[in-house]
Amino acid sequence: MDAIKGINPETTPALEVAGNFDELGLAAPILAAVKEMGYKTPTPIQQQAIPLVLAGRDLMAQAQTGTGKTAAFVLPLLQKMVPHANASASPARHPVRALVLAPTRELAIQVHESVVDYNKHLPLRSTVVFGGVDMKVQQAELRGGVEILVATPGRLLDHATSRSVLLSQVQFLVLDEADRMLDMGFLPDLKRILDFLPTQRQTLLFSATFDDNIVGLARSFLQNPLKVEVARRNTSADNVEQLVHKVREEDKLDALVRVVKTRGIAQVLVFTRTKVCADKVGHRLQKRGIQAAIIHGDKAQVERFAALEGFKQGKVQYLVATDIAARGLDIVELPCVVNYELPYAPEDYVHRIGRTGRAGASGLAVSLVSPDEERLLAGIERFIKRDLKASPLPETSPSQPLRAVATVAEPAAPLAASTPAAASSAPVGSRFGRTRAEPVCALLQPPINRSEPALVAPQS
Ligand SMILES: Nc1ncnc2c1ncn2[C@@H]1O[C@H](COP(=O)(O)OP(=O)(O)OP(=O)(O)O)[C@@H](O)[C@H]1O
Ligand SMILES: [Mg+2]
Repeated sequence: MDAIKGINPETTPALEVAGNFDELGLAAPILAAVKEMGYKTPTPIQQQAIPLVLAGRDLMAQAQTGTGKTAAFVLPLLQKMVPHANASASPARHPVRALVLAPTRELAIQVHESVVDYNKHLPLRSTVVFGGVDMKVQQAELRGGVEILVATPGRLLDHATSRSVLLSQVQFLVLDEADRMLDMGFLPDLKRILDFLPTQRQTLLFSATFDDNIVGLARSFLQNPLKVEVARRNTSADNVEQLVHKVREEDKLDALVRVVKTRGIAQVLVFTRTKVCADKVGHRLQKRGIQAAIIHGDKAQVERFAALEGFKQGKVQYLVATDIAARGLDIVELPCVVNYELPYAPEDYVHRIGRTGRAGASGLAVSLVSPDEERLLAGIERFIKRDLKASPLPETSPSQPLRAVATVAEPAAPLAASTPAAASSAPVGSRFGRTRAEPVCALLQPPINRSEPALVAPQS
């Protein structure tokens, strides 16, 4: 562990934790974008990571789900690229300088949306490439030149090997959900991608979970890295209330519907272990007349987008998903996650329940545990270093008030939308200026950010 040091005054003497975005050394156009996002103060991971990234350090950064890790790497990377920002039409003036890799297409798209948000007052170009859609549109975007490229590994390799993108000028590599990117599923692709990159570069690993194997593995391609840990290792988000109900396998569907109804839960993300189970649960919910969508890796990309977007816009109440939706996805004001089946890997539990309780909001995570899942539950408890005591299912009581989540502090506000999801949800967009996502059918043709404003702070 000697090469990777924890963040403390001894290992990072120059570090002063800033309490304000203005003190972080970010240029006016970036600060303006942050302000427009509604962010008032940097989160702890942003306070700690931004100065270190600006100082040029390699990082392994861990912070709980929903605590703003995306901005913790995007903001300083934009800052580092400010000197290269230019409005030239020549692709040669816009080589890929920052590469961000993410494990799923939906997450890559979301991270790119954040890049676009934070970069809106800079003339840096960005795009996102991912599988499941035509390569040609992406090739045209890449050939036009982009400084920031967000990608899933497989599709990036397709582009790199067909030379539709050159990665020889990459100065910054970010692995979002780094422990996932370094597991056996992605490692071979990742190693091939590293062969296209210069060895002299800054590398940043971000995740809510890291295990010791990753630390060892990461050493081989990080240079003198610092380790930033905001919370105790592998902890689940603080503001997610975690409940366990012991339920027989055959009673789980009834239990799921009962939990949602009796607690008046506006929207719920339901995780299963397998695609077959996700389909089964989704179809059985639909047969009961419930608005449910399904997302998993065997669905066509168009269906995956439609399911997630319908859910983000509050058009469906239940989204039934495999672990494809466990990592990184930021669904505004999602009040509840249900583990219909516990995951085999305990870290997936942390990521799954982290889809709720984000950006300071409260959330509820309910696990329906059948007798043969007791062993998995014990593994999760060991991993998060916390006992998850079982409680009885809630009683069906007509007198119970319909609230988004019992723990949500803000009062429900009347909304124009007439969907059941909207009817009882907390005020949309009320927190940090977050709003439900706009429709993104355009995702099938990934957006390119070519706005070319002047390099000055906008008039406010
Ligand atoms: N300083 C801030 N103030 C308020 N909201 C913020 C701030 N930084 C980020 N957010 C918001 O917090 C939400 C969660 O951020 P983000 O998705 O980056 O979390 P994360 O730490 O990457 O979570 P995960 O581990 O699940 O990937 C986003 O909606 C983001 O806009
Ligand atoms: Mg994230």
